[in-house]
Amino acid sequence: MKDDQYRRQAEDWTERQYADAASYLAHRADLVVSLGPRLERGDEVLDLACGDGGLGEQLLARGLRYRGVDVTPEMAAEAERRLGERAPIETGDLNDYEPPARVDATTVFRAIYYARDRAAFFAHVAGFTEKKLVFDLNPRQYRVADVVADLRGAGFGRIELRPFFVPQTVALPGLAVAVAKALERSGPLARLALRLRFTYLVAASR
Ligand SMILES: C[S@@+](CC[C@H](N)C(=O)[O-])C[C@H]1O[C@@H](n2cnc3c(N)ncnc32)[C@H](O)[C@@H]1O
Repeated sequence: MKDDQYRRQAEDWTERQYADAASYLAHRADLVVSLGPRLERGDEVLDLACGDGGLGEQLLARGLRYRGVDVTPEMAAEAERRLGERAPIETGDLNDYEPPARVDATTVFRAIYYARDRAAFFAHVAGFTEKKLVFDLNPRQYRVADVVADLRGAGFGRIELRPFFVPQTVALPGLAVAVAKALERSGPLARLALRLRFTYLVAASR
């Protein structure tokens, strides 16, 4: 997607991109907390390429602190509008942004492809991230083994992958969401589904 499209689409990004934003982003936030080393109340999450800060709502509701950064000024403005005084939002490029102090977790959702040099980006994030880096990964777009090798090279020795099966563009009834979440832990069946659709969530820590 071209940058000017993000400028045009900033308004109501979350509401238009996610068929059931509350359910989808709640599941994403739960995994940000629980996959890999657990986040505790008061921990700070830096969300790179934060868009309009939709994930921020969910993380703040879990007692975490949230800092959002996006390269598109219109997106950052929407995130500010959404989160107000509750979270600092900045305009910046994920390739070189440095937070004012170390953060407990860094997240990058639907934006890992904006890293100019993936290995260098992971090393940059490792320099200011205490507990873990969490991002989503499409295994049909990237070789998982290559990404894991880049993470290890940046000092992230512990890497957890979790299939993420709550759909982005289809709103499912509650029971179907529960089934989708259960299937994420189904091993070979989950890996088969990932050959056709869906993504992994990756948590990388030391
Ligand atoms: C597909 S959207 C994802 C937004 C949000 N993370 C989400 O999951 O809904 C990609 C976002 O990346 C931002 N972006 C693109 N290149 C970037 C860069 N180099 N640094 C920071 N943000 C960037 C865009 O402005 C856009 O908000």
